Amino acid sequence: MSKDPVRIGVVGTGKRGQKLIGYLLQLDDVEITAVCDGSVSEAEIAAGMCTSSGKKKPSVFGGKKDSYRRALDSGLLDAVIIATYWDSHAEIALLAMENGIYPGIDVPAAQTVEQAWKLVETSEKTGIPCMMLENWSFRKDNLAVLNMKRLGMFGEIIHCHCAHSHNCIDHWFFDSETGEPKWQAEYLMKHNRDQYPTHAVGPVISWMDINRGDIFTEIFTMTSASRGINAYFADKFGADHPNAVTRFRQGDIVTSLLRTSSGKTLVVNNDLLLPRPYSNRWMLQGTKGIYDEEKSSIYLAGHSPQYQKWEPWQPYEDKYNHRWYQQDLSSLRGRRADFVMLRRFVDAVAVRGPVPLDVYDSAVMSAIVELSEISARENRPVPFPDFTRGRWKTNEPYFAV
Ligand SMILES: NC(=O)c1ccc[n+]([C@@H]2O[C@H](COP(=O)([O-])OP(=O)(O)OC[C@H]3O[C@@H](n4cnc5c(N)ncnc54)[C@H](O)[C@@H]3O)[C@@H](O)[C@H]2O)c1
Repeated sequence: MSKDPVRIGVVGTGKRGQKLIGYLLQLDDVEITAVCDGSVSEAEIAAGMCTSSGKKKPSVFGGKKDSYRRALDSGLLDAVIIATYWDSHAEIALLAMENGIYPGIDVPAAQTVEQAWKLVETSEKTGIPCMMLENWSFRKDNLAVLNMKRLGMFGEIIHCHCAHSHNCIDHWFFDSETGEPKWQAEYLMKHNRDQYPTHAVGPVISWMDINRGDIFTEIFTMTSASRGINAYFADKFGADHPNAVTRFRQGDIVTSLLRTSSGKTLVVNNDLLLPRPYSNRWMLQGTKGIYDEEKSSIYLAGHSPQYQKWEPWQPYEDKYNHRWYQQDLSSLRGRRADFVMLRRFVDAVAVRGPVPLDVYDSAVMSAIVELSEISARENRPVPFPDFTRGRWKTNEPYFAV
């Protein structure tokens, strides 16, 4: 490990950017050397977080949509965390790689398949690894499932299910008090697709050996009617509110079915616009057993005590705890998965080595955004690009090995 601190910049210092800064400030070997936001006051708040925690004040960049260019050009950075609006993730990451800086991109890394390819090509050309910060891949339960899968306990994996089920109308898309749209709401007017697939599929791509022994070959997406936003506004702000009658393009429930080269199938739901508690509904099913996150249950043929009866998941999570969770994390403030993810990212930057979720994984997860839209619009299965250009056939498992 290098003894110099890893110099990290954060572009986009809104809610998520500030959360990530909060985690980075808990890492002794990190120095936040630059913060950048379209709004200078947001960047100053982020700089203040650094000084209040006893660290040096980072250089502050901001005021313009492309102020990140000056930050990336400053010579101050080994890595950059990108937590801006979705439309700028890929362009900032591309410039970072061109400048020899590791990008850690919040989700999704790209909005289009073309952008995903550019991330792959630029990472290959520059030799700079590129990681999407898909934090749910680093959750304790998901990593224990991965350990068990690699021990063969589920047999051959046949089918998975995952979802991002989270009613986001009143905090992500619209202000809960005033009903005013936030930047994410624009996407509800313009698109009808799985806009946010990566939390759902993040852990699953490793369970299914995607890019490492297998590959998605096609995706078929259907979207439901769009009623949730209208119903919410009618109920909360009255039937006369414009959003109670505006026709949004985005369907309430988006369901994608993906098939892999070896014949596995995956169902992904995107479900952000109807009242419901949060859920990811991860499920993995193989020739020897099944794991169900929502039931917090597992059944392993020939191993579970009762024939065809669920048993509790928690003892398995404890027994097959991944080594990343075997250290004492009790002193940390915040979500463990975010911390474990950033620790791995920083470790990779420190030695200029490979990142735990590579550019091919980031491209696959992000490509679902546009592919789901094309499939839903054209009502047909759409071929899934092979970002590895055939190397998936010989690539060894890599994430969290
Ligand atoms: N991984 C997770 O669990 C998680 C959770 C929440 C949000 N996110 C992601 O984080 C990102 C930001 O979300 P948020 O909730 O913090 O939004 P936010 O609106 O609170 O913050 C976004 C910030 O980015 C800034 N910004 C936008 N474009 C910029 C540009 N070109 N250059 C510099 N600054 C720019 C805005 O001024 C704003 O301050 C999104 O991509 C979102 O998907 C991830």
